[in-house]
Amino acid sequence: MKTIITNDYEDMSEKAAQIIIETVKEKPNAVLGLATGATPMGLYRRLVADHKEMGTSYKYVRTINLDEYVGLTKVNPQSYAYFMYENLFCHIDIALKNTYIENGTALDSMIECKRYDKMLNKLPRDIQLLGLGSNGHIAFNEPYTSFSSTTHIVNLAENTIKDNAIYFDNIEQVPRQAYTMGIKSIMKAKQIIILASGFKKAEIVSKLVQGNVDSALPASILHNHCNCILILDKEAASKL
Ligand code: GLP
Repeated sequence: MKTIITNDYEDMSEKAAQIIIETVKEKPNAVLGLATGATPMGLYRRLVADHKEMGTSYKYVRTINLDEYVGLTKVNPQSYAYFMYENLFCHIDIALKNTYIENGTALDSMIECKRYDKMLNKLPRDIQLLGLGSNGHIAFNEPYTSFSSTTHIVNLAENTIKDNAIYFDNIEQVPRQAYTMGIKSIMKAKQIIILASGFKKAEIVSKLVQGNVDSALPASILHNHCNCILILDKEAASKL
C-alpha cells in the first residue's frame, strides 16, 4: 500500500480527483466503485468542477456504490442513493441507468445480495474509492467481517451508528442495518484509493499503516492489494 500525505483536506481531495479524472479520460467507459460519507465530498466537488470547466465526460462511465442503509428508499435524503445523486450524479453527464447501488428496500435481501454480486462480477471496477471508518471499517464491513465476504447485510456497530448519527436528526433514526459490498469484492478492483482526513482518523490510520493484516481492522486487508493508494491529510497522518 502506497501512502501519500497531503497538506489538508483540499489537497487530499485534489490528488484523488486527478487519479479518477485521468482514468476516465483514458478509458471513457471506466467502471468506478464509489463511496459515500464526508470524506469523498471534496473529491466529488472537484469531479463536478472539472466536468463543467474541462468537459470530462461520464457519458459511458458506470458506477457501483459500496453500501446502502436497509429500509431507506432512494428518495430518502439520508439514503446513499440520494447522497450520490445530490453530490455527483445530477451535476455530471452520467446516465442514471449506469449508476448502481444496493436497493435498501428490496423485498428479498438474499436475492438483492445475489443480484449485486452478479453485477459486480459483470462489471470489473477500474478504481474503487474507499473511506475509512473510525473503527477501521471499509464500506460497512465492520471489524471481524470475513475477508472472503461478498455482498451481505450487516448489523452496524455501535460506534458506526454514533458516527453516522450526525447525518440524521437523532441517533434513533439511524438504520441499524445496511447492505454492503463484501471485502472480497472490494479487493477485486484493479486499483483502490482509500482516503482519510482529520484528527479523528489519526488513531486508526496509525494502526492501519503498521501493516498487520487482521480482521479486527478490516481495512488492513488492503495491504494485500497490489495497487492500493492511501491518501491522507496531515491531520489523519499526525500519529504516524
Ligand atoms: C460510513 C460508510 C463508509 C465510509 C465511512 C467513513 O459508515 N459506510 O463507506 O467510508 O463510514 O465515513 P466518513 O467519510 O463520513 O468519515
